[in-house]
Amino acid sequence: MPLHPLVSEQQIRERIAQLGAEIDRDYPEGILYLICILKGASIFHADLARAIRRDAYLEFMGISSYGVARSSSGEVKVTKDLDISIENAHVLIVEDIVDSGITLSYLTRLLQQRNPRSLAIVALLDKPERRQRPVDVRYVGFKIPDKFVVGYGLDYAERYRNLREVCVLEE
Ligand code: IMP
Ligand code: MG
Repeated sequence: MPLHPLVSEQQIRERIAQLGAEIDRDYPEGILYLICILKGASIFHADLARAIRRDAYLEFMGISSYGVARSSSGEVKVTKDLDISIENAHVLIVEDIVDSGITLSYLTRLLQQRNPRSLAIVALLDKPERRQRPVDVRYVGFKIPDKFVVGYGLDYAERYRNLREVCVLEE
């Protein structure tokens, strides 16, 4: 299956530096948890965390919604929950991509019930054309067209996660 570069390594690096600076500006005080949604956001999470200069805690959560298919099953399941309490803390969900919005609308509802001081989402990629549920994504790296993409953490059946750029995977 051919790969076509869509977002380069350099574009990703520059955009993450901007996002880190914005996040530093927006969260002047209080505990900040950066919640990585495994596995897709792991690389973005690691790079974004280092673009943020203020103190931040790195936490991890597993959510499954896709299996190995290319489109959402509509079912969301927590496969690994947080092992910390987020009560009264700033929480930033770090996600690879917002597609239908099913995963993130479920997750924001779940985490909101735990009474964080604030709850927001940062996503590297956004495919707005595909939205089925409204999601309030505060920080978006890149808006992209309705194409299936891989690389920089994103996979197709677990492949391509270690590509350094984001590529379109053609049929
Ligand atoms: P949503 O619930 O439809 O918004 O799906 C979000 C999840 O689907 C993301 O966290 C990704 O794991 C996966 N996903 C959506 N679009 C793509 C894509 O183009 N490539 C790889 N994974 C994707
Ligand atoms: Mg994901």
